Amino acid sequence: MGNVHVFDHPLIQHKLSYIRDSRTGTKEFRELVDEVGMLMAYEVTRDLELQEVEINTPVTKAKAKRLSGKKLAFVPILRAGLGMTQGILNLVPAARVGHVGLYRDPETLEAVEYFVKLPQDIEEREIIVVDPMLATGSSAIEAINSLKKRGAKHIRFMCLIAAPEGVNKLKEAHDDVNIFIAALDEKLDDNAYIIPGLGDAGDRLFGTK
Ligand code: URA
Repeated sequence: MGNVHVFDHPLIQHKLSYIRDSRTGTKEFRELVDEVGMLMAYEVTRDLELQEVEINTPVTKAKAKRLSGKKLAFVPILRAGLGMTQGILNLVPAARVGHVGLYRDPETLEAVEYFVKLPQDIEEREIIVVDPMLATGSSAIEAINSLKKRGAKHIRFMCLIAAPEGVNKLKEAHDDVNIFIAALDEKLDDNAYIIPGLGDAGDRLFGTK
């Protein structure tokens, strides 16, 4: 059964206040999203397995701990998920990166897959799906469906801001997935924007509006 973790770390909340602010320009927005991605990844990876190894320090033999267990893969959902990827890779540079591209069908409003490229050994990896916004939940659900169809088994989902509607839908569809959120907002508006949210994450990251 997956859990929902909402971060209350002061640094994350501080940076998020600038990310939400409509006066924050593209350059600063992008830098802040990267930074929050990195801070979140620190917590999201807290339970990774370690193994004891013997090393030689300059003065003596010692036992130390190194990561063991499954290797990581980050999977940003295109395109806004790209905005969090570099920050995460700063923290875990050896991780592999897969991509899932989805567009929203203008009539059904459902997410439709148009691009999937994953590490070959995806079924053996611990996967962290990344998207700044969890709004209706349909992109996250569809992205995770795409991954599971290709054999992925160990999946976490991380986002900056979520609406309760999206969290509930994602939990219903994939109750094995742990969900990590920097802020749980109030609701969705009629156009499926998160309130208060930050506007369109893709447009703000890439300056397309
Ligand atoms: N996607 C966004 O970029 N913003 C929202 O508020 C909802 C979905």
